[in-house]
Amino acid sequence: MSFSLPERIEIMEVCPRDGFQSVKEFIPTEEKIAILDALAGTGISTMEITSFVSPKAIPQMADAADVTAHFNAKWRGKITSVALVPNLRGAESALAAGVDWMNFVISASVDHNMANTRRTVEESIEELKKVCALKGETKLRLSVATSFACPFAGDVPSEKVVRVVDACLEAGIDGVTLCDTIGTTDPKYLANTLTEMRARYGDYPFALHLHDTHGMALANMLTALRMGFTSFDAAAGGLGGCPFAPGAAGNAATEDMANIAERMGITTGIDIPKLLAVVRSMKDDYGLTTYSHLAAADKGCCSR
Ligand code: COA
Ligand code: ZN
Repeated sequence: MSFSLPERIEIMEVCPRDGFQSVKEFIPTEEKIAILDALAGTGISTMEITSFVSPKAIPQMADAADVTAHFNAKWRGKITSVALVPNLRGAESALAAGVDWMNFVISASVDHNMANTRRTVEESIEELKKVCALKGETKLRLSVATSFACPFAGDVPSEKVVRVVDACLEAGIDGVTLCDTIGTTDPKYLANTLTEMRARYGDYPFALHLHDTHGMALANMLTALRMGFTSFDAAAGGLGGCPFAPGAAGNAATEDMANIAERMGITTGIDIPKLLAVVRSMKDDYGLTTYSHLAAADKGCCSR
């Protein structure tokens, strides 16, 4: 039996958004920027740098415009920037600040969409259509939160994902990420949904956003890889979690994801020893709680 794998994958670094949003105590903007700069030097090509959300909902992201201004001064044109937006207001702010991609989040499950954005799924889709009309040259990605499991409603059937993806593709989005927001999906459930996606959308290049709450993120990643999916989100130090999804823990750590890929001969572009040094500094210099297999082993990427 053949074990086919892609030659290269793309990893989007989401620590500055998904990671930081899960940290309760405000991280001073200068510290965010210092970590962002360090991460930008690890070889990643795309970074989710912040989110333009209500500061009442997520006070940690209140400095989105400042973080974006810094990023643009230092990294624009070198690293692709992404900012999460939950509504039209957020998109207007992101466009004013200047990002390469907006990442509009809509949950497949209405219960989580209400908790996260105080809108029904249909209301969010209507708002995304307005963002499409405004976006101009800026790219727009849809992240389908709770694509596999919802903290309130349990397993999410693929028809609910299809409903959102269909409507948003028709509206004119430029990319789609399927998210295991609470990190409880197993490889079989994930594969079933991805099979449905393949059947409906052919080889559309869905990205995957895999939290690791139950320790299955890398198994899910490998499952997706073997099905031909090659774009993944990951967070340095395994940080992350949606404040509106009870029980959700961190993302697959970028260093663990890059390590499993590189060990199998798949190019990621990421300099793992450099990234490990940044993760160490996030913990030692900035007091962040990091978790990853590789950082815990702390022997670098090449020890066998
Ligand atoms: N950026 C900044 N402020 C925003 C905003 C945005 N994108 N959207 C709304 N606000 C402000 C409003 O101005 C209002 O402020 P005020 O009370 O001082 O007047 C307040 O937030 C509430 O506004 P309202 O219109 O009632 O909010 P809403 O129902 O339109 O939107 C969300 C609520 C979606 C903006 C809010 O729940 C949110 O930001 N959620 C974050 C979701 C998230 O990031 N989850 C984690 C990632 S998946
Ligand atoms: Zn997430």
